[in-house]
Amino acid sequence: MKICITGAAGFIGGNFAHYWFNHYPNDQIIAVDALTYAGNLATLKPLMDQANFTFVKADITDGSTMAHLFEQYHFDVVVNFAAETHVDRSVVDPAVFLKTNILGVQVLMDLCRKYDVKRFHQVSTDEVYGDLPLDRPDLLFTESTPLHTSSPYSASKASADLLVNAYVRTYGLKATISRCSNNYGPYQFPEKLIPLMIQRALNDESLPVYGQGTNVRDWLHVYDHCSAIDLIIHNGKEGEVYNIGGHNERNNLEVVKTILKQLGKDESLIHFVKDRPGHDLRYAIDPTKMEKELGWKPVYTFDKGIKETIDWYLSNKDWWQPIVNGDYQHYYETMYKDRQ
Ligand code: NAD
Ligand code: TYD
Repeated sequence: MKICITGAAGFIGGNFAHYWFNHYPNDQIIAVDALTYAGNLATLKPLMDQANFTFVKADITDGSTMAHLFEQYHFDVVVNFAAETHVDRSVVDPAVFLKTNILGVQVLMDLCRKYDVKRFHQVSTDEVYGDLPLDRPDLLFTESTPLHTSSPYSASKASADLLVNAYVRTYGLKATISRCSNNYGPYQFPEKLIPLMIQRALNDESLPVYGQGTNVRDWLHVYDHCSAIDLIIHNGKEGEVYNIGGHNERNNLEVVKTILKQLGKDESLIHFVKDRPGHDLRYAIDPTKMEKELGWKPVYTFDKGIKETIDWYLSNKDWWQPIVNGDYQHYYETMYKDRQ
């Protein structure tokens, strides 16, 4: 099989490229990424010399470059991880989110139609459902929960989902969508909660927790997200949406305290800062459809996954230190100066 993985130099796309290479060593992988600030080729280094792995630097919104790629490779499957993904950045500058997350998906789907790709898989997010109240633990997102977005990021992802549905219905595009909860694991860019807190705690720097730290996320190890997408690509039904999550709800303060405990650092590093505008209170996924229809089961508990992840960041400083020392330093100062 020839599989095109877009956004392959990012966190989940990179993990997925490794996953696919390990599970399907006879497949040909074409990894595409524009290498924005979030893309890091170091993530793909172990794959670069493999005969069945090709990396192409390309922007999914660039129709002519993408058309050449489709013409050259005639992909069987296209799985789209390429996106702008950080909610805080989307609050400051929505334009690039709309371009990549909506128009980029249109470019890919038009080419999938033209080249009769057997499966286009759109990697979406649980954030398209908006949020749930903190005092109703019985409520979970199902695939039929109405879309109700809060941030420019989630609105752009929901727009793409609607477009995918429209292409399925209007043109018969062979497509599926997955909506996963928050991921953690190796190779996550240190602007997101877990790697940010690990890296700052290691340097004895203050840990900026938004609001009171009571917002809840439903954490899933990235490996389990990859195995779910694998099942959807192979056995999922065209035109269907699949929710992915492992019932691992934690509030942000609990997550930060877990990190501090494992690193042997003091809780006095925690610093409550001004809240994110429009901050979603709680996400929680009902993954029954994945479990019942596709037989998916996550292998990680949160306790095991977070421990392994912290160990990974401790042993792979050469992956994240260049990021933290570079432009990202400037980002941190700019984004957090008004929150103090
Ligand atoms: P990420 O920001 O780590 O990686 C995104 C990658 O896309 C980067 O390598 C970047 O260079 C690339 N990219 C950005 N714009 C591009 C463009 N125009 N053309 C080509 N490449 C481009 O993000 P991630 O956390 O790996 O998320 C991947 C996907 O999974 C996204 O679609 C996101 O919405 C979705 N998702 C993420 C999470 C999460 O917790 N991280 C949860 C659910 C769903
Ligand atoms: P994040 O990793 O940005 O993911 P998302 O907003 O897509 O869920 O944030 C996870 C949670 O952590 C979210 O409730 C916001 C919070 N948060 C902080 O408290 N401090 C921070 O510095 C960051 C980046 C996030």
